[in-house]
Amino acid sequence: MKTEKTKSGNKLSQQPIFRVGVVLVLVLASFALVQQISVPESFGQYGYYRGDSVSEWADMEVAFADESTSCAACHTDRFNNIKTTTHKGLNCQTCHGPAEKHAKDPGGSKPTIEASREFCGTCHFQVQGRPETAVKQVNLDHNGQVNCVQCHPAHAPWSKFGGGTK
Ligand code: HEC
Ligand code: HEC
Ligand code: HEC
Ligand code: HEC
Repeated sequence: MKTEKTKSGNKLSQQPIFRVGVVLVLVLASFALVQQISVPESFGQYGYYRGDSVSEWADMEVAFADESTSCAACHTDRFNNIKTTTHKGLNCQTCHGPAEKHAKDPGGSKPTIEASREFCGTCHFQVQGRPETAVKQVNLDHNGQVNCVQCHPAHAPWSKFGGGTK
């Protein structure tokens, strides 16, 4: 084909297929260049990902403590009591935030204490589509603007209404 056409007077470099070829080669070449520059050195060290990310993750500071070994060691009563209440399914750090630092050095850092209506409401305010069977829900104006914990202490929500520790 080529020779035929060349013979017939059309120079190869003037044919559309040649220009397409040049564009294709340029695209491939720039792709290879960009890849060369942008793929990190450690890519592929262990598999189809950046090898350095393994040590980067390992270097990250641990934020959450293991509750059953750390919180329980010092806050033993609280830890055991909450397990007898309706809040038994919740972890301490769900409400008190990541507390590994505090567990290692109680004086050096304090966990957060959240007692606002909004905070309790993140789980308990009525939301369409949230199954009532999973978490009991109340209206936004359930008992006015009084803080929930005045009636439902977080560590034993029913204790003030004759619910024992519950
Ligand atoms: C090595 C002992 C120790 C460990 C482990 C420990 N705490 Fe504490 N924590 C303390 C001491 C001491 C205090 C200050 C006295 C107090 O309020 O009981 C305290 C206070 C707190 C407070 C109140 C902070 C404030 O502002 O009054 C919270 C909340 C708390 N700890 C949560 C936790 C949680 C959650 C864990 C597990 C991740 C934990 N603690 C692990 C010793 C410990
Ligand atoms: C449902 C959320 C919630 C959970 C779960 C929870 N706490 Fe609390 N915690 C609170 C609130 C709110 C306060 C503030 C007391 C108040 O205003 O009633 C508090 C107070 C505290 C205090 C300060 C002392 C006090 O009683 O005022 C400590 C210590 C504490 N919590 C430890 C723990 C530990 C340890 C766990 C896990 C065994 C835990 N909490 C689980 C919400 C929670
Ligand atoms: C992370 C979600 C979560 C947060 C935050 C939370 N709760 Fe709960 N609460 C639950 C779950 C789960 C239950 C057990 C299932 C149920 O009974 O709704 C529960 C149970 C309760 C109950 C008992 C409901 C019943 O049927 O007996 C009360 C009251 C309550 N919580 C009040 C509070 C208060 C007050 C706060 C804020 C200090 C709070 N909760 C924060 C998840 C949460
Ligand atoms: C003035 C006291 C008071 C305050 C403040 C209060 N509650 Fe209650 N709550 C009650 C009483 C009493 C009941 C039981 C009767 C009822 O369902 O209204 C109840 C019921 C509940 C129930 C169970 C609902 C059910 O369907 O069984 C949940 C969950 C609850 N409250 C969460 C909260 C939350 C979250 C807040 C804050 C946003 C809060 N409460 C504020 C007194 C209070």
